[in-house]
Amino acid sequence: MISIRRAAPEDAPVLGGIISRFFAEEGFPGTPDELLAKAGMFLAESANAAFLATEEDSVVGVATVTTTFGFEVGRYAELEDLYVAPGHRSAGVASSLIEAAAAWCRSQGCGIIEVVVTPEGDQRHHLTSWYLRRGFSDEGRHILWRSLGDD
Ligand SMILES: CC(C)(COP(=O)(O)OP(=O)(O)OC[C@H]1O[C@@H](n2cnc3c(N)ncnc32)[C@H](O)[C@@H]1OP(=O)(O)O)[C@@H](O)C(=O)NCCC(=O)NCCS
Repeated sequence: MISIRRAAPEDAPVLGGIISRFFAEEGFPGTPDELLAKAGMFLAESANAAFLATEEDSVVGVATVTTTFGFEVGRYAELEDLYVAPGHRSAGVASSLIEAAAAWCRSQGCGIIEVVVTPEGDQRHHLTSWYLRRGFSDEGRHILWRSLGDD
């Protein structure tokens, strides 16, 4: 049976491990050591939360969220990472992870939760339509990036 729980600070190795698996499968950058260090940093911030889906002692899925504030919507959240191990997909695990994350964000005073879908994610996993079936809406907004390094 799958259980969902919020990760505690001491779960940094577990969080780093499942994020490393996610990033390796999807070809995202980051070594396991780098991702382990980021997991520790992530869990040290009270504005962040990670939720782990576990079956017995093994972690089979993860959702991470951050919260922030803007004058347009007040406090709001971003779903940063969502991953379920291939052998556990299509059983509602990711949907349960999103609901657990959304409930925590609501408890923190967030009025909305947003997610960024990359063109690659859309091609590989049809993520836009997957999120639309889970209550997200496409407002037609664009995300623009500017590097702040090496100026
Ligand atoms: C996208 C991803 C997280 C989905 O995980 P998942 O656990 O398979 O998702 P779910 O099981 O909740 O939903 C998948 C399907 O199973 C169905 N399902 C089966 N049993 C279900 C149940 N008991 N409860 C809810 N849904 C169930 C759902 O209806 C859903 O069908 P739909 O896509 O037609 O709506 C997973 O494919 C993944 O990890 N992909 C790679 C990483 C990735 O791209 N992450 C997103 C980054 S933003």
